[in-house]
Amino acid sequence: MITKKKIPKHIAITMDGNGRWAKKQGKARIFGHKNGIKAVRETIEYAVEIGIPYLTLYAFSAENWKRPEKEIEALMNLLVASINNETPKLMKNEIKLLTIGDTGKLPLATQSQLEKTITKTKENSKLTLILALSYSGKWDILNAVKKIIENKELNENITEKIFEQYLATKNVPDPELLIRTSGEHRVSNFLLWQIAYTELYFTNTLWPDFGKKDLEEAILEFQNRERRFGKTQEQIEC
Ligand code: FPP
Repeated sequence: MITKKKIPKHIAITMDGNGRWAKKQGKARIFGHKNGIKAVRETIEYAVEIGIPYLTLYAFSAENWKRPEKEIEALMNLLVASINNETPKLMKNEIKLLTIGDTGKLPLATQSQLEKTITKTKENSKLTLILALSYSGKWDILNAVKKIIENKELNENITEKIFEQYLATKNVPDPELLIRTSGEHRVSNFLLWQIAYTELYFTNTLWPDFGKKDLEEAILEFQNRERRFGKTQEQIEC
């Protein structure tokens, strides 16, 4: 059983394996993405149930723009429809929606739906749901650098704390746990700065099959790991 005392403050998830899930059933890739929505819903519900304050989902990476146009279009439509359908539930469960990424590149309809739901949910405070869209860790770091070099004074006095204020995750605590589904053991340009001390958890479950039980297992393993942050075991114990 997971203990309520050591619930991660921030979980990040790379939702992987939708395409393979669909292929296994002889279906088109978008069928996998559609079924991935059910896993998103279940994950969010469980996160609310156990009181996780921040959940970041890698929904569309900067590199995903290289996918076939038809798949991108279908994914964007799915995103708009899902966010629109789920907004009442976000309100009911006091979930605040945020995005990180180069979202100016998203189709206007997607941007406009996101804006609408972000504005509507901005006072909610139980769970902050962050969708990483057109996101890459390198983009995030480079973007911060570009903003910082405009300010000469800042330039010379830069510290980690100040730098973090220029990342897309400004004011969001670093993830304590990063989960990746589908048996792939890669970071894939997700939150590069922010995962410096994050616990990594990999599962073979394909994203559409991911649910409450899988999330519970990941948290259980997290709770059993010793996080030393560079210190010795003896230092942690005393
Ligand atoms: C990775 O599987 C999945 C994606 C690139 C998209 C994930 C998006 C969703 C589940 C929809 C998100 C919607 C909301 C509302 C958050 P893949 O296509 O890379 O699978 P493969 O590696 O098996 O090909």
